[in-house]
Amino acid sequence: MELRALWLLCWCGCWCYGGGHGAGPSATFTRTGPRSREQQAAAFRESLNRHRYLNSLFPSENSTAVYGINQFSYLFPEEFKAIYLRSKTSRFPRYSPKGPMLISNMSLPLRFDWRDKHVVTQVRNQQACGGCWAFSVVGAVESAYAIKGKPLEDLSVQQVIDCSYNNYGCNGGSTFNALNWLNKTQVKLVRDSEYPFKEQNGLCHYFSDSHSGFSIKGYSAHDFSDQEDEMAKALLTFGPLVGIVDAVSWQDYLGGIIQHHCSSGEANHAIIITGFDKTGTTPYWIVRNSWGSSWGVDGYARVKMGSNICGIADFVSAVFV
Ligand SMILES: *[C@@H]1O[C@H](CO)[C@@H](O)[C@H](O)[C@H]1NC(C)=O
Ligand SMILES: *[C@@H]1O[C@H](CO)[C@@H](O)[C@H](O)[C@H]1NC(C)=O
Ligand SMILES: *[C@@H]1O[C@H](CO)[C@@H](O)[C@H](O)[C@H]1NC(C)=O
Repeated sequence: MELRALWLLCWCGCWCYGGGHGAGPSATFTRTGPRSREQQAAAFRESLNRHRYLNSLFPSENSTAVYGINQFSYLFPEEFKAIYLRSKTSRFPRYSPKGPMLISNMSLPLRFDWRDKHVVTQVRNQQACGGCWAFSVVGAVESAYAIKGKPLEDLSVQQVIDCSYNNYGCNGGSTFNALNWLNKTQVKLVRDSEYPFKEQNGLCHYFSDSHSGFSIKGYSAHDFSDQEDEMAKALLTFGPLVGIVDAVSWQDYLGGIIQHHCSSGEANHAIIITGFDKTGTTPYWIVRNSWGSSWGVDGYARVKMGSNICGIADFVSAVFV
């Protein structure tokens, strides 16, 4: 089967100062004890220079992204990158209207955001756990059920981190492998309160078959590059989409529309696309991150639509429930 042959590994990240756990990929940058004030100050100075540079490049552009001080400014880019640039990717098949994924043919509204329908949970914070792949997949399942009329509930990310095989928990993982695991095993995701997030890998906890939970009926995985309008229709048809982007420059993102400093073909961070906005001169995707609500625009980023900025259209999944 075509999809099964595809494999995408996305080492997603966290910001980690001192103690990583164990000898995962991020152990390269595990330091013994807290970083010295000098190291933090040096990283901070470098961040200020980087912000000045990033903000100077396209000053005349409409609503372009703004970069500045946030919770990641005390990290050297190498530290941030060492966690994020651990991705191995392979292509998703290109979306084709003749394929099995039936996207409704519709005229797109100028603006659409699933948050307005109250089917998107609050932004979460992965903290020092490289589990963005699990956060994004779980978020898509939560929304898909809410769109079907079920109550909107936080489901367990920790369950996916601990139990999804072919993934590495807080040391990284692949949205594709997680979706494949959910689909194949028909495992039921339990509520977050029953299996709370603990910021590190743990042993998989199994629940009895009669325990209530949320399984998926299927999923799709496609490359929508050059077809972002079709992707928008997929979003309207199926709900928030799981995506994987190059998030290196997101270390410094404060707000505005990301239009530069971001490449395709460097996917390293999983996110959820909840909507889009074409009302201004620069249309953009509305992207939910898992770095807490103080990052970006209330935990969200805006990414320019139509030119595969950050590779946002390269690895797109929808879940069916
Ligand atoms: C910015 O917006 C104005 C009008 O809103 C438009 O005339 C101009 O071409 C835009 N500039 C760019 C670089 O898109
Ligand atoms: C979608 O609808 C438009 C008109 O609304 C039509 O022109 C077009 O052929 C349709 N496309 C498909 C694939 O059905
Ligand atoms: C999901 O599982 C169903 C039932 O086993 C299967 O028919 C379908 O092909 C799977 N979907 C994907 C994308 O692998």
